[in-house]
Amino acid sequence: MDQRYRPQFHFTPEANWMNDPNGMVFFEGEYHLFYQYHPNGTTWGPMHWGHAISSNLVHWEHMPIAMKPDHNGFIFSGSIVVDWKDSSGLFGGQPGLVALFTQADQYPDSDRPRQRQSLAYSSDKGRSWTMYENNPVLVNEEYTDFRDPKVFWYEQKQHWVMVLAAGDRVQFYASYDLKTWTFASEFGMQEGSHEGVWECPDLIELPIEGTEGESKWVLILSIGDHPDYTEGSRTQYFIGEFDGTSFKNENNSDSILWLDHGRDNYAGVTWSDVQRPDRAKLFIGWMSNWKYANLTPTQEWRSAMTLPRELRLRHTPSGIQIVQLPIPALQLLREQGKSLHWEDINIRPGGNLLAGLNGERYELICEIEVDHVEEVGFNLRSSDTEKTVVGYRGAEKRLFVNRCESGESGFHNQFACRHDVQLEPIEGRIRLHLFIDHSSVEIFANDGELVITDQIFPDPSSVGLELYTCGGEATIHRLDFHPLQSIYSYEPVFG
Ligand code: FRU
Repeated sequence: MDQRYRPQFHFTPEANWMNDPNGMVFFEGEYHLFYQYHPNGTTWGPMHWGHAISSNLVHWEHMPIAMKPDHNGFIFSGSIVVDWKDSSGLFGGQPGLVALFTQADQYPDSDRPRQRQSLAYSSDKGRSWTMYENNPVLVNEEYTDFRDPKVFWYEQKQHWVMVLAAGDRVQFYASYDLKTWTFASEFGMQEGSHEGVWECPDLIELPIEGTEGESKWVLILSIGDHPDYTEGSRTQYFIGEFDGTSFKNENNSDSILWLDHGRDNYAGVTWSDVQRPDRAKLFIGWMSNWKYANLTPTQEWRSAMTLPRELRLRHTPSGIQIVQLPIPALQLLREQGKSLHWEDINIRPGGNLLAGLNGERYELICEIEVDHVEEVGFNLRSSDTEKTVVGYRGAEKRLFVNRCESGESGFHNQFACRHDVQLEPIEGRIRLHLFIDHSSVEIFANDGELVITDQIFPDPSSVGLELYTCGGEATIHRLDFHPLQSIYSYEPVFG
């Protein structure tokens, strides 16, 4: 696990190719993470479901491959629910796990891809899976892209709901037994961004911070890479209401809400069956981008997941939006006695408060006065020839990441890039929470209101760290630096 670029606190497969997170479910004290997996190579290929288990979403134990292609095709993305009341009749009255996922093959005697939904079940806490004998359980010949079912229980109507991507829309289906699905409604032909194929939907009810139990429904939707758009594959979301049958967008149909303003957070969905008093949901995304995912410069394995995040909604001046926060359990990784803390300090152009510090993996938390600042920021993973810049331009009020000189980038001509996003200061200050790993930067700005997730491939020797300002002094109201341990310095054990 000490291979070049191997993330030290993000989930990666032990070997070979990984893409979307799948089937995330919490059951009997265990968080399951399944994922799109090609066990025989480091590029996309015949899809299996890989599997890992965690008790805290930070330390993972790798499990054997959970599902392999069969006569119905490859195993594409999908979800898992706990069938508490044995509504499927597959568990002899006991609770069990039911997976619904896409199987991909081709129409007989044709090149046309065929995507159908199948079911598998497990009565041993996800250790082994049985394919349902009457697969597939949902077919549709109209749409060639017909995939990625996410299933949940809708309490008020006492039925299961499936949302899946169907061409230029999502469709909702309902079921009482998880085996027979009835069309309920569809959404999206004229809504949001269609700059790529629609994939991997998730429909969740999220609490609104600071209210007495108010919530809204959120439809998360990934859109695939398209050669015309430099951003590549990315994820949008819609906020509105869901009545068990249909979803209504409360924003204008042409307004687009992006989940992440970086390049590397795709196909993310939330964990099923996590019952929290605050009703926040837990999310993880695939930390790559279809534009270059097959080309990133790792050897033994390819791709990582984002950090797990808590999702909630917040009222902001520009309307209700998702906030994402890193899960608190990540604090387990802070190295005892090595954290540093500063308050109310001025930095000048040319100075570096952090001179002498370095590292390949750490957290930075800061609150910066930006009213009079031209530009302030961090040079991360730096050396004489490399740096990743996370900065803020005061006059334009824009937060940016520049990975043009971040390290290896020749594998794709659009990887080296600078991108930025509007970040409104709050009472003249911005707050940033950064996580730097061996091949990624994640930024949670203004308490999760805006997130940027980007891969970088710096040389292991590029460990410099600078806090810089240009065009005048900047006041740092607060700064914390936490070196982080590797998750591999700990061995979890599951029965
Ligand atoms: C998204 C996706 C899904 C599909 C899977 C195949 O990244 O294209 O739509 O199910 O990957 O691996």
